[in-house]
Amino acid sequence: MASAPPSWNRTQEPFAELISAEAIAARVAELGKQITEDYRPLVEKADVVVIGVLKGSVIFMADLVRHVALPVKLEFIGISSYGDETVSSGVVQITQDVSKPLEGKHVIVVEDIVDTGHTVHYLMENLATRRPASIKLAALLHKPERSEREVKIDYLGFTIPNKFVVGYGLDAAQLWRNLPYIGYITNA
Ligand code: IMP
Repeated sequence: MASAPPSWNRTQEPFAELISAEAIAARVAELGKQITEDYRPLVEKADVVVIGVLKGSVIFMADLVRHVALPVKLEFIGISSYGDETVSSGVVQITQDVSKPLEGKHVIVVEDIVDTGHTVHYLMENLATRRPASIKLAALLHKPERSEREVKIDYLGFTIPNKFVVGYGLDAAQLWRNLPYIGYITNA
């Protein structure tokens, strides 16, 4: 007999559900289908490379690529942003780079959340200098109220209010990434 899944809804935990696991799964499947349709004509001529931004995008990326019915290559990039822990400074550094050149390839960058937009703005500019055939952005979440940089999100999961969220890859002090849904911190 299968054991019961872990219960995350214990009262001592500092978050409430914002987006259910079922709603995430449905939306991620739609995004994967859309990517499949958009890239089907391109994949014959050049590699499609999906780049996950560590660590927050890992769970979203793992689910998303399984809905992309095309041959794609996976890469990861590590980023650290300097400044206050909770306020993005716009000063971003690549701490781990992709393993292969991107020239001539169709690149899809996968991010967990676009908050102020500084991180993604820096990253897209940096990757564009490597002369990919095309570059697009998939982001699970967007907090437009916090936007400080205009960022074009080609494949967006959900627009959310200005709350600090955890789960499905997103963390608070490195915890809660394995929560199967998106929750918001209630004790902050
Ligand atoms: P930005 O540069 O302000 O857009 O920040 C992007 C990064 O900040 C994301 O990739 C996350 O790592 C982190 N971040 C922003 N908002 C949240 C949140 O609500 N929960 C968890 N991490 C967040």
